[in-house]
Amino acid sequence: MTDKTQPIHSEWSSRFAFILAATGSAVGLGNIWKFPYITGENGGGAFVLVYLLCVAVLGIPIMIAEIMLGRRGRQSPINTMQTLAAEAGADSRWHYLGWLGMIAGFLILAYYSVIAGWAMAYIFKAFFGSFFSSDAADIKALFDNLMDSPIQQIFWHTVFMGLTLQVVVRGVKGGLEKAVRYFMPALFFLMLVLVGYAMSSGAYQQGLDFLFTPDFSKINANAVLTAMGHAFFTLSLGMGAIMIYGSYLPGHISIAKTTFFIAGADTIVALLAGIAIFPLVFANNLEVNSGPGLIFQTLPLAFGHMSGGWLFGVLFFVLLFIAALTSSISLIEPTVAWLVENKDMDRRKACLWSGTACWALGVGVVFSFNIWSTHTFFGKNLFELLDFLTANIMLPLGGLSIAIFAGWIMKTKHTEQELELPDEGFQTWLFLIKYIAPPAVFLVFLHVLGVFL
Ligand code: PHE
Repeated sequence: MTDKTQPIHSEWSSRFAFILAATGSAVGLGNIWKFPYITGENGGGAFVLVYLLCVAVLGIPIMIAEIMLGRRGRQSPINTMQTLAAEAGADSRWHYLGWLGMIAGFLILAYYSVIAGWAMAYIFKAFFGSFFSSDAADIKALFDNLMDSPIQQIFWHTVFMGLTLQVVVRGVKGGLEKAVRYFMPALFFLMLVLVGYAMSSGAYQQGLDFLFTPDFSKINANAVLTAMGHAFFTLSLGMGAIMIYGSYLPGHISIAKTTFFIAGADTIVALLAGIAIFPLVFANNLEVNSGPGLIFQTLPLAFGHMSGGWLFGVLFFVLLFIAALTSSISLIEPTVAWLVENKDMDRRKACLWSGTACWALGVGVVFSFNIWSTHTFFGKNLFELLDFLTANIMLPLGGLSIAIFAGWIMKTKHTEQELELPDEGFQTWLFLIKYIAPPAVFLVFLHVLGVFL
């Protein structure tokens, strides 16, 4: 087969285990919390179309490339890039790509954990019947109450971060495979239930029109950047999360097939979330652009009124929390693996160090929703700043570098050997990764800077 180095961490037990873990990383808050609210903020249909296009022409080829780099390098992203650059006879500075990703993952986790904390808080609100027969104003008050309370948010953020580290300490295989195997289908089922409720909301068609009828006058350069950044964010690309999962992948598995499955599942969950939420927004005269609180201000309305709403409400937030957990562990895994490889730490110590630092930054994020909400930098509070910097800048930059490395730097002989695709498939991938992905990301960046329109 291939002349690969031996892995220094453990390997997945099967292709299925890898698919589960990578799908677990991809499907998370990005699909259910972020996709709907940024779609609302950016005018709907045209934004969704650009996002789907980015998933197809950038996301899929770059995911194939990122998994491939991981499997060939077999270490944390920084050391993988160092090894692969040496193998290709390229500049060793390529390992900065690993650094960029590691830092991005760390910064994302700081706010990801806070939002996942909201989901946990909502498990209890659902359980104690807070949504029961409430109207839109009650549900908004419930959310505002959480936003105004640093203590509540810090509490849940701490619990979530602690659980993430707990799972990471045990190594990537532990409970992760099981969590994804059982809970992911359950989440999928629940999304269908919510879509069913949305159909009866009275504004189903209006919701669908908003999502799927593109009106290009509603988007600008920044919306295009956000759509592209989200394609990377939702697929967990450009920061080494998928690369490190790829590094635990046994040699004989088809990377391309696996990628299609993950990207397909991820996209379907996001679209279902949109289809479930927007009809509720219109039926209740809510604002489409109400920001990060959107799902917390709409879905409880459904749970408060549908039959079986108590059970579905509790279940939904439990599943959202689990989906967030299977993503958050992949955000910190590159840092932990690097500390283990280079700083001679055991996993426990590596988790403790990285987790504590990340937690502290998350406390700042909590404040950005209340006592620091007016402290802005370029018009953005800390949460918005971290989100913009990571999703819209660092991940696309990481993705761009991965595309250039896989397409232009690595020897074609080696990529061919790793991917083992039929000739036509390989040529298509190579074309996309060489000639489409790099210029596309580059042009979007220039477009935002106003250099190119
Ligand atoms: N893809 C995850 C989500 O959609 C977030 C994530 C981004 C996870 C980058 C890992 C790496 O929620």
